[in-house]
Amino acid sequence: MPKIQFLPKDVTIEVKEGTSILDAALENNIHINHNCGGNCACSTCHVIIESGFDTLNEVSEDEEDMLDEAEGLTDTSRLACQAIITKDLIVRIPETESTWDDDTF
Ligand code: FES
Repeated sequence: MPKIQFLPKDVTIEVKEGTSILDAALENNIHINHNCGGNCACSTCHVIIESGFDTLNEVSEDEEDMLDEAEGLTDTSRLACQAIITKDLIVRIPETESTWDDDTF
């Protein structure tokens, strides 16, 4: 199963191939904002892929449009609800998209 390392907390989980980054995080008590409920209609689930970007599914036009609204956009930014896991990844959750707190894990 693919391993996903979430930064900045440095938490690694294993998930089934075909899971979205958002679902993988939420199922493991890792909070990523998701104001539209994972429907590609906001940009609050913006994450930065630090390793494995090319293993993800292609970015759709709708996702590109929403990403344009994301704060701190990078060349390897994705919407966590639209990015499907196939291999190991390192994913950075921007501070603006999460409410990390020490009780989360
Ligand atoms: S949760 Fe809104 S676009 Fe991902």
